Amino acid sequence: MKNERSSFTGKIGFVLAAAGSAVGLGNIWRFPYLAAKYGGGIFLLTYLVLAVTFGFTLMVTEIAIGRKTGLSAIGAFKKLNSKFSFIGWLGALVPMIILPYYSVIGGWVSKYLYTFIAGPGRAMEEGIGFFNQFVSQPAEPLIWFLIFLGITAVVVFLGVEKGVEKVSKVMMPILICLSVVIAGYTLFLPGAMEGVRYYFMPDFSKFSVELVLGAMGQLFYSMSLAMGIMITYGSYMKKDVSIESAVHQIEFFDTGIAILAGLMIVPATFALSGGGELNQGPGLMFGTLPQVFERMLGGQFIGILFFLLVLFAALTSSISLMETVVSIVQDKLRWTRTASCIIVFVGALLLGIPSSLGNGAWSGVLLLGKDILSFFDFISNSVMMPIVALLTCIFVGYVLKPKTLIEEVERNMVFRSKKLYTVVLKYIAPVCILLILLTSILETLGILAI
Ligand code: PFF
Repeated sequence: MKNERSSFTGKIGFVLAAAGSAVGLGNIWRFPYLAAKYGGGIFLLTYLVLAVTFGFTLMVTEIAIGRKTGLSAIGAFKKLNSKFSFIGWLGALVPMIILPYYSVIGGWVSKYLYTFIAGPGRAMEEGIGFFNQFVSQPAEPLIWFLIFLGITAVVVFLGVEKGVEKVSKVMMPILICLSVVIAGYTLFLPGAMEGVRYYFMPDFSKFSVELVLGAMGQLFYSMSLAMGIMITYGSYMKKDVSIESAVHQIEFFDTGIAILAGLMIVPATFALSGGGELNQGPGLMFGTLPQVFERMLGGQFIGILFFLLVLFAALTSSISLMETVVSIVQDKLRWTRTASCIIVFVGALLLGIPSSLGNGAWSGVLLLGKDILSFFDFISNSVMMPIVALLTCIFVGYVLKPKTLIEEVERNMVFRSKKLYTVVLKYIAPVCILLILLTSILETLGILAI
């Protein structure tokens, strides 16, 4: 199997496939609520700076590791230096943590699609009130979670990802167009301009270490970095495709869609509640957008279309998450594909149930002061991924040496940002990630107050 690794047809094929994994709920659901929470413009600015430095460096590194070794994460690190294969293992844990709670949110999207088809009256009128009432019920969110996870599992089990990807390649451009229309409409609502200012004008007094960690975790999450995924994609990339320009394009897509989603949602919170709902957290998209749709001509239809498109974006991502976990189980435990699919499905189900209940029946259960879903989100994005990123930079920067990967990038082309790449990889990224991580851990444990 490994010798006959199939490859993407060309650069477009590679960029589209990698962007399909990268663009998902992270862009549409997670980015806007973090931007709203962390002061708008200052978050956006921090995110952009991190994207062109850390994001660029890490994505080039992962894709080059994958293409050089022709293996996915665990095998790749092992081949480069067997003492460091643990980095691959650590990265492999991340999708296992994300898949369950990603599916809980996928379940919320499915519920909203159903609600808009059946008659969205209350969802549109009550906004966040309707959402809070829905997630606090014990059974209903669980059923939707099960449906979403079930669809993901069936697709992975039948091996029909290609079909879903094909549909999603049509859906993605439609989603972008629809988002432009919705954002454009929102900007004309009275009060929205104040939100646009909040979203684009950085207020430096709102800068904090927590914000940087939030932006960094979001960057890794959104671009599917620090979890081995891009190494796998790299292993399928042809040798004559330019890694550097492919990374620029993926970053452009992914960040563009996130910024657009924020523009659709953040100004709307100002128009609808004078900014009172900025701190809504994970419920922001579900509370705000239905109220925007209510004001639009054909709001019900727009809502159906929107949630259908988001559902596809979420499915392509959850499928690639589950596929990763299944292939690890299959490879490492030497289980059959059927057994691997079943165990991953059951595992994700068991881990996802507490995340789902954490908004309702188990809302009293707080871990590090967070509800269960936010706790898993925090552990994967703000703890594990920065650690994996840090270890990857140290390994490539000081053990493997950047030259080895630069040669891979330079096979047929010039690597224009070679200097920036080396400096960020060896010095800036490790030092910054370490400082941010330590500060945040000390703060979370209550040892440090900033
Ligand atoms: N990058 C995806 C998003 O932004 O929604 C999340 C994700 C999907 C992470 C697939 C990892 C992955 F394999």
